[in-house]
Amino acid sequence: MGCVFPLPKERQEAAARVTPQRETSFIEKMKKTNRNMVVFYGSQTGTAEEFCGRLAKDAQRYGMSGMSADLEENDMSELPRLVEIDNSLAVFCMATYGEGDPTDNAQDFYDWMQETDEELNGVKFAVFGLGNKTYEHFNAMGKYTDKRLEELGGRRIYDLGMGDDDGNLEEDFVSWKEQFWPAVCEHFGVEATGDDTSIRQYELVFPTDINMNKVYTGEMGRLKSFETQKPPFDAKNPYLATVAVNRQLNQAGDRHLMHLELDISGSQIRYDSGDHVAVYPMNDVSIVNRIGQILDADLDTVISLNNLDGESNKKHPFPCPTTYRTALTHYLDITNPPRTNVLFELAQYATDPKDQDILRKMASASPEGKGLYQSWVLDAQRNILAVLEDMPSLHPAIDHLCELLPRLQARYYSIASSGKVYSNMVSICAVVVEFQTSTGRSFKGVATNWLKNKVVVTDNGHKATVPMYVRKSQFRLPFKASNPVVMIGLGTGIAPFMGFLQERGWMKEQGKDVGETILYFGCRHRNQDFMYQQELEEFEKVGVLTQLNVAFSRDQEEKVYVQHLLKKNNEHLWKLIHTDNAHIYICGDARNMARDVQNAFYDIAEEVGGLTHTQAVAYIKKLMTKGRYAQDVWS
Ligand SMILES: Cc1cc2nc3c(=O)[nH]c(=O)nc-3n(C[C@H](O)[C@H](O)[C@H](O)COP(=O)(O)OP(=O)(O)OC[C@H]3O[C@@H](n4cnc5c(N)ncnc54)[C@H](O)[C@@H]3O)c2cc1C
Ligand SMILES: Cc1cc2nc3c(=O)[nH]c(=O)nc-3n(C[C@H](O)[C@H](O)[C@H](O)COP(=O)(O)O)c2cc1C
Repeated sequence: MGCVFPLPKERQEAAARVTPQRETSFIEKMKKTNRNMVVFYGSQTGTAEEFCGRLAKDAQRYGMSGMSADLEENDMSELPRLVEIDNSLAVFCMATYGEGDPTDNAQDFYDWMQETDEELNGVKFAVFGLGNKTYEHFNAMGKYTDKRLEELGGRRIYDLGMGDDDGNLEEDFVSWKEQFWPAVCEHFGVEATGDDTSIRQYELVFPTDINMNKVYTGEMGRLKSFETQKPPFDAKNPYLATVAVNRQLNQAGDRHLMHLELDISGSQIRYDSGDHVAVYPMNDVSIVNRIGQILDADLDTVISLNNLDGESNKKHPFPCPTTYRTALTHYLDITNPPRTNVLFELAQYATDPKDQDILRKMASASPEGKGLYQSWVLDAQRNILAVLEDMPSLHPAIDHLCELLPRLQARYYSIASSGKVYSNMVSICAVVVEFQTSTGRSFKGVATNWLKNKVVVTDNGHKATVPMYVRKSQFRLPFKASNPVVMIGLGTGIAPFMGFLQERGWMKEQGKDVGETILYFGCRHRNQDFMYQQELEEFEKVGVLTQLNVAFSRDQEEKVYVQHLLKKNNEHLWKLIHTDNAHIYICGDARNMARDVQNAFYDIAEEVGGLTHTQAVAYIKKLMTKGRYAQDVWS
């Protein structure tokens, strides 16, 4: 260990000015602000964070005083000290990612839970997990947290809740909450106040003496960070990459499949094949304008929404000061169906009692209310604009709406190039999301439609740009190039394999001994969505791709999927896996494909390897643990 020298006093003061000290002791903060309930979140794309905020806000209605807290920003080794606060409770909203992994902000807490032998001395807790049933490790992080806190001596005051994002996550959460609060009241002997009035968390301020240089225009962190770009680039400081290529990959069919190349030269961004690129999109200008019109708002008004809780680490719901236009364009999610708490809070602004009633009913836990929310909001894909349009008596204050809407999240894409071959370029392969809702509206996916319209050079000669950063993944080619690889991709799931193929080709050129490289690709029609056909055939011609298998599901009467082709080649695949140490990769829409492919491998292990079903399952699990069966799937 090196020596540590204290800084001179004036340097310490200067350092404190540059990086303001954050309060990491949640215990001290709770004591200082008279809170007895803390709600922690492990969240990647904001849902768990949003749920935490709602629980902390609800607390007041149930005789508790709550605050929400980022696991990453607090010293979690203090958890045993929670008993120092009377009638205290810690709630955890934990999302699961990858192979049952924690979110980035929950990683340190997860490590702490695994390693610590500290006693929790009866610390009272409850856990709500967020997951998706289409993934193998459903809600693994919620389950682990719930089990581990009890093992460490914590006292569970209400059962683990498990939300399923493949079903209706909002309903799962509302149903859990409905049971959780009475359990809290009973446990602590407190009464629900029955007070359903709306509680504002932020105060609307119109800055005086506006200096437009100090107004946020879409930056995620530092003001003017898009004008003066400074590495390192990450979620809070994205790089503004120029769009070098944007071409359509299909010549026929209704869908728009696209290949983009983002220029990252000079950014110092490094990436490996298999990593993800995160893109911050902008909302559709016409939706923003229409919201402004319906609410009679001057969208160019400069505002700041300031947290009424001066002790909170979160001073504003989004970077402030800014304009309503910037908030609705860059910072807020205006296209996903609004959650029930938003509808509940908006109800007060409906002048027609019938509309008020419907909005409140949809936010209630009654079966009728849940059914109505499911059909009127979720099934009909009504976004906030559609709600406003279809309820003409609803006229909320725009600042309150901005406080309530969740943040617009970055979209991830599996990088479709190799950082070894194209160090200055990050490629994306994506399909544009567009469909008609049951109310006859056209739903346009935010990021894909925004990317589709990115022309390489705009009319005024400027280059189109995309705020992005790279997120490391564990989807990696084998360390030894001589190991065979079997890649299975569906639709845009071809993306990371384009990077893998470029890299295997590059290794071959370096004279390395490169093992068999096999691709199974599934799409609908040969003449419509056989993406990168030319490139793939070229890889095959030069021997980089040793086998190209394509399943065109809709080109014949009987559906043909990748798993059918896998089973046809079962003998060879088993040899590659069992004898030659092959690595298997699966990428694409998780919903059914990943499960079907996994079942095909169980069948191969049983039919060719002679294993029982239980042995086959254990065999594939072992490959996963060894990193020889990797999945990059989304839904
Ligand atoms: C790790 C990871 C890697 C990814 N890699 C890729 C990739 O390489 N290529 C790629 O194209 N995508 C990829 N995705 C998905 C991508 O991040 C976006 O979700 C996708 O592009 C849609 O974004 P959007 O903003 O255009 O749509 P959004 O505005 O987010 O809208 C999408 C919504 O529309 C719904 N929807 C879509 N179609 C229909 C329909 N027909 N009927 C009803 N509802 C529908 C979806 O359920 C979803 O709720 C990846 C996702 C993750 C998490
Ligand atoms: C790339 C990816 C991987 C995921 N992996 C899992 C998983 O292994 N198990 C699971 O139950 N849910 C998984 N999910 C679902 C998320 O946990 C779920 O959508 C959750 O609501 C996200 O919460 P957040 O918005 O707070 O990050 C995954 C989602 C994505 C996008």
